[in-house]
Amino acid sequence: MGIGFRTMEASDILASIELWKTMKGLAIRGSDNIRDLTDHVNMNRKHNFVAVSEKQIVGTVLGGFDGRRGYIYHLAVKQGFRKKGIGKELMERCFRSFKEINVSKCHMMVLKDNAEAQDFYKKIGCELRTEILVFSKNL
Ligand SMILES: CC(C)(COP(=O)(O)OP(=O)(O)OC[C@H]1O[C@@H](n2cnc3c(N)ncnc32)[C@H](O)[C@@H]1OP(=O)(O)O)[C@@H](O)C(=O)NCCC(=O)NCCS
Repeated sequence: MGIGFRTMEASDILASIELWKTMKGLAIRGSDNIRDLTDHVNMNRKHNFVAVSEKQIVGTVLGGFDGRRGYIYHLAVKQGFRKKGIGKELMERCFRSFKEINVSKCHMMVLKDNAEAQDFYKKIGCELRTEILVFSKNL
C-alpha cells in the first residue's frame, strides 16, 4: 500500500469532507463547507496536507496561521490506514511548514472525550495544557 503526501488543493475539499463525515472524534461544523474551506486552503496554501493511496484521500490535516501561532484542524486518517505513521507524517509536514515561516508554537483543540487523539498528540510530543480554557463567539 503506497502512501503519497502532498499539499491540499481546493479540488481535494469535497473528498476530504466525505472522509471527515465518516469519523468519530472530528467535530464537523457549519464552516466545513466548500466555500469556507476553499478560503482556508487559499489563505494557508503551505499548511494543509493530504495523504493519498491509489488516488484516494486517506488522510488530511488543516493548518492555519493567524500571524502569531499555528492552529491545527481536522487531522484525520481513514480507518484501515491508521497506526501506520500517516497521522504523524501529516503533523510533521504541518509543523515543518510552520517552522519555515518562523512560527514557534502551534495549538490543536481536541474534544474532551476523544481519548485516541489525546494519546496520539502526547505520543508525538505535544503538551496537554491544563491552565487554558477556550472561549468562542459566533460572529
Ligand atoms: C488520531 C489519528 C489521526 C492518528 O492517526 P494514525 O495515522 O493512526 O497515527 P500514527 O500511526 O501516525 O501514530 C503515531 C503514534 O501515535 C500512536 N497512536 C496512534 N493512535 C493511537 C491511539 N488511538 N492510542 C494510542 N496511541 C496511538 C501510534 O502508536 C504511534 O506511536 P509510535 O510512533 O510509538 O508507534 C487517527 O486515529 C484518526 O484519524 N482518528 C479520528 C479523527 C480524530 O480524532 N482526529 C483528531 C481530531 S483532534
